Amino acid sequence: MLSDRMLEVLNKQIKLEGDSSQIYLSMAVWSENKGMEGVAQFMYGHADEERQHMLKLIRFVNERGGKAIVPDIAMPANEFDSLKKMFEILLSHEVFVSKSINDIVHVSLEERDYASNNFLQWYVSEQIEEEALARTVLDKINLIGDDKGGLYLFDNDIKSIVANISPEQQ
Ligand code: FEO
Repeated sequence: MLSDRMLEVLNKQIKLEGDSSQIYLSMAVWSENKGMEGVAQFMYGHADEERQHMLKLIRFVNERGGKAIVPDIAMPANEFDSLKKMFEILLSHEVFVSKSINDIVHVSLEERDYASNNFLQWYVSEQIEEEALARTVLDKINLIGDDKGGLYLFDNDIKSIVANISPEQQ
């Protein structure tokens, strides 16, 4: 059985994962409208992944006898100054999500809820990967700078990143 405190923080995380999905969906739309098909594919995939993160938490909360709250859908930003700016927002958002996961892990220890602690380890690992991926993509964007040819190659390149994300990571 989940404690009230544990239930509250898990429900907050459910909302955060739902919001993340919306943010990346908005980034997908922006990229697609700019003709960056590869980036759009990456963002659509990422949005789906975040929804899976939300669902995984919902199922866990219900399994443990809690009541998961399906969050409202908030409208995210839908304009971005540049590709670089967009990925910078993505990275800082993931850093924020990691901090939130760490805080929940901390609560699970204080509540002596070792089942939740065990479950949350998956999110801890996932966040390491997500932050690393965002940093890799940003490094590539910084290397390209304003080179249009480089941007074209980058857009193609990012498709292979999408292809390499295995289903079990989602
Ligand atoms: Fe589910 Fe990217 O955090």
